[in-house]
Amino acid sequence: MRYHPAMPEAAAPAPSASAPLTNAGGKSPAEVRAMFARVARRYDFLNHFLSLGLDIRWRKRAARELAGLTAADAVADLCTGTGDLAFAFKRAAPESKVIAIDFTPEMVAYGPKKAERKRMAGVSFAIGDALHIPLRDGSVAAAGVAFGIRNVGNLDAGLRELARVVRPGGKVLVLEFTKPGGWFFGPLYMFYFRWILPLLGRAISWTAGDAYRYLPQSVQAFAGPEEMSGRMRAAGLSDVRAEALTFGTVHLYVAVKQNAP
Ligand SMILES: C[S@@+](CC[C@H](N)C(=O)[O-])C[C@H]1O[C@@H](n2cnc3c(N)ncnc32)[C@H](O)[C@@H]1O
Repeated sequence: MRYHPAMPEAAAPAPSASAPLTNAGGKSPAEVRAMFARVARRYDFLNHFLSLGLDIRWRKRAARELAGLTAADAVADLCTGTGDLAFAFKRAAPESKVIAIDFTPEMVAYGPKKAERKRMAGVSFAIGDALHIPLRDGSVAAAGVAFGIRNVGNLDAGLRELARVVRPGGKVLVLEFTKPGGWFFGPLYMFYFRWILPLLGRAISWTAGDAYRYLPQSVQAFAGPEEMSGRMRAAGLSDVRAEALTFGTVHLYVAVKQNAP
């Protein structure tokens, strides 16, 4: 059952502990891991090429939310992939320690290599599940996910985990694709997203073909800004903001972890 924004938050169904994990695109965690393992080698190139380089700007915008963090602060990037949000975090808050976590070893393997190439110290990479983040409660000043939460097997549990590791008053940042509105741009973009992008993905990398069919399918099935904001609140976050980027094709969600009562 999907949580509709019109439902009172108290009525949001609690995910059953025994329910099988399946994300918005209908994939299990094992399928998601296998898909990203296949695409890892071409991931960065395809990302930048298919978004016309806009993905770099989106992560930079999210990272600006970290302004003011100090050497005493740690920041986590979940579903880090090859580490691009973690690097954007480090650039925006150079003093803070950045912890980058993902459950696909083939993706994470690129992180340290990229850090070395970028001569960027202070970003550590770890294998870990966003549904069981290997960090203590309230141990980071902020936690972010770029284009990852849609892939997680249980959205509400993922949001609760992000909220758990952030200290009271700290921020949770989520970047995610959304379906743009408008009578002209919306359908035009969805045509590109559904039909052209998978063809381009497959032409550039045969093994990535499935991933770029899954991308539009999962975005279509995933929560829009209103629903997502409600679910962030239900996860114990407050002051939720949803900022539309690039004509609403992506949203940046910014929320604050409530102080303990
Ligand atoms: C589309 S990539 C995004 C990578 C990166 N954040 C970026 O901005 O390019 C999604 C990543 O989420 C990871 N992922 C999906 N479910 C996960 C989970 N439950 N725990 C940790 N990582 C997960 C995948 O392994 C993959 O690397």
